[in-house]
Amino acid sequence: MKKLKIVGLGVGLPKRILTNFDLEKMVDTSDEWITERTGIKERRIADSDTATSDLIVIAAKEALKQANLKPTDLDTIIVGTSTPDTIYPSTACWVEKALGLSGPVAFDVNAGCCGFLYALEIAANLINGKRAKKVLVAGAEVMSKVVNWEDRRTCVLFGDGAGVCIVVPTDEERGIVASNWGSDGTLAELLYQPAGGTRMPASKETVEKKLHTVHMVGNEVFKNAVREMENATLQVLADANLSSSEIDLFIPHQANYRIIDATIKRTNIPLEKTYLVIHKYGNMSAATIPVALHDAYYEGKIKDNNYILFAAFGAGFTWAAMILKW
Ligand code: UT7
Repeated sequence: MKKLKIVGLGVGLPKRILTNFDLEKMVDTSDEWITERTGIKERRIADSDTATSDLIVIAAKEALKQANLKPTDLDTIIVGTSTPDTIYPSTACWVEKALGLSGPVAFDVNAGCCGFLYALEIAANLINGKRAKKVLVAGAEVMSKVVNWEDRRTCVLFGDGAGVCIVVPTDEERGIVASNWGSDGTLAELLYQPAGGTRMPASKETVEKKLHTVHMVGNEVFKNAVREMENATLQVLADANLSSSEIDLFIPHQANYRIIDATIKRTNIPLEKTYLVIHKYGNMSAATIPVALHDAYYEGKIKDNNYILFAAFGAGFTWAAMILKW
């Protein structure tokens, strides 16, 4: 086991709620279609002047307070995001600036919707390698700024938010029992943002063609998501030598309720043990799992020594699963 303890949880969620009924007035869609096909009812949308790091800072303050720590106690900041404030420096460095810190290691992890689990895996390894002691791990996105609001196939799916965990070493028998991660770059173009990088720098044409937005072949992503969420989940259970009935809480990435439903049926995880936030937040990409973890904790769903299983799938394609003993 990679021993660690999560001593603080926080979220940063924009106040503005965009419902399916609001979307009916924007594109040719319906509450019925979105609810039946995805399980989403509403999502949070950031103001025009809010960037990803702004949401992280709100979440970080809540998490640090719970942990009874000051920002200056942090030695490492890892942010999972694919919607950074700027291409460089990293969003983690903007968080540092906002918290008034100079010194900690700070970097981003771009692993699509798996960003938070990848970041937590890295944090666990740094802590167990004695290279870090007080780590801020965030999953955060402002998806609304990279969505094409004229494309009903994608704009109804995403939401904005940030979740933060403060992770520290411990001698207690708790931490990451088992984990796996992987990726398949051969399928990269099924879910990507074509422009804005060195392949296709910003130009008048790229802006006019809306190439700075999410491009997704939805049904292909769906099939791969179901397959890899199942594989990653079964593998992590086998590696932990636990059966699905021994898991106390399942927190999956939440892109589509039908993906979650297929995953729990294929892995025998009961729906009652599956924590859902998709109806109220939509797909917040890397932010989904830490926000759900926070909400589950404050709803009293997480007790000492519980086994929490996480699984995610996202752009890359990337996948990851982890069992955490709380
Ligand atoms: O975060 C990790 C990565 N992302 C995901 O995991 C997302 C994976 N994909 C999905 O969740 C689903 O594929 C979607 C929700 C994106 C789409 O659901 P679907 O059941 O695969 O629908 P579809 O793309 O096959 O489209 C079915 C129909 C089409 O109409 P026709 O061609 O059958 O006449 C679409 O044009 O639904 C239409 N459609 C819509 N209708 C109303 C697509 N989007 C909408 C919409 N409102 N918003």
